[in-house]
Amino acid sequence: MSEISYTAVTLADEDKEIPLIRELMTKELSEPYTLYVYRYFMYSCPDLTIMAHDGNTLVGAIVCNISSHKDRRQRGYIAMIAVCDEYRGRHIGSKLVAAAVTAMKAQGADEVVLETETVNKAAIRLYENLGFLRSKRLYKYYLNSNDAFRLILPLTEKSTMLTRMMVE
Ligand SMILES: CC(C)(COP(=O)(O)OP(=O)(O)OC[C@H]1O[C@@H](n2cnc3c(N)ncnc32)[C@H](O)[C@@H]1OP(=O)(O)O)[C@@H](O)C(=O)NCCC(=O)NCCS
Repeated sequence: MSEISYTAVTLADEDKEIPLIRELMTKELSEPYTLYVYRYFMYSCPDLTIMAHDGNTLVGAIVCNISSHKDRRQRGYIAMIAVCDEYRGRHIGSKLVAAAVTAMKAQGADEVVLETETVNKAAIRLYENLGFLRSKRLYKYYLNSNDAFRLILPLTEKSTMLTRMMVE
């Protein structure tokens, strides 16, 4: 089985990489996003769009950012993740999330959050395996009317205490 490499998008390669990431996400996610959405995430947090390659072929990607939440804590956000169908089940998704969490932690994140469809068993399993907790159910959150779970991974004591209050 071939070795998969994990690298962040660089501004120099943006014109080449962003369209490929967008093509992958558009194919695999239930909602499409414009090129500007990818550019927004990339420019605000260049190290937090991470790609998985098999040789020169893009086989997975994750798009995240980090910002201040209610002026109280730094919140990492996973906006999108996808792995090509034929590469699933090889823990590429888990490694992309782990790499993004490590990068967000290094940039001072107190927690990491995301939303996923309540019917997305693979994503829920992936995130719960990595310690994410369900904090909210969001009614008809997606354009297809599906509900979402908001998941949260507390990284610092500041977030752990608040999360405990939310999930208990
Ligand atoms: C979600 C996704 C990124 C997972 O990528 P992946 O590389 O296949 O994930 P991993 O191999 O790291 O698997 C993570 C866990 O989920 C489990 N899993 C994978 N597919 C599953 C499925 N269809 N049902 C239940 N569990 C599943 C794996 O077995 C693994 O758990 P384990 O280690 O306990 O065995 C991939 O399925 C995907 O791209 N889906 C389409 C896009 C999407 O839904 N993105 C998420 C939006 S929030």
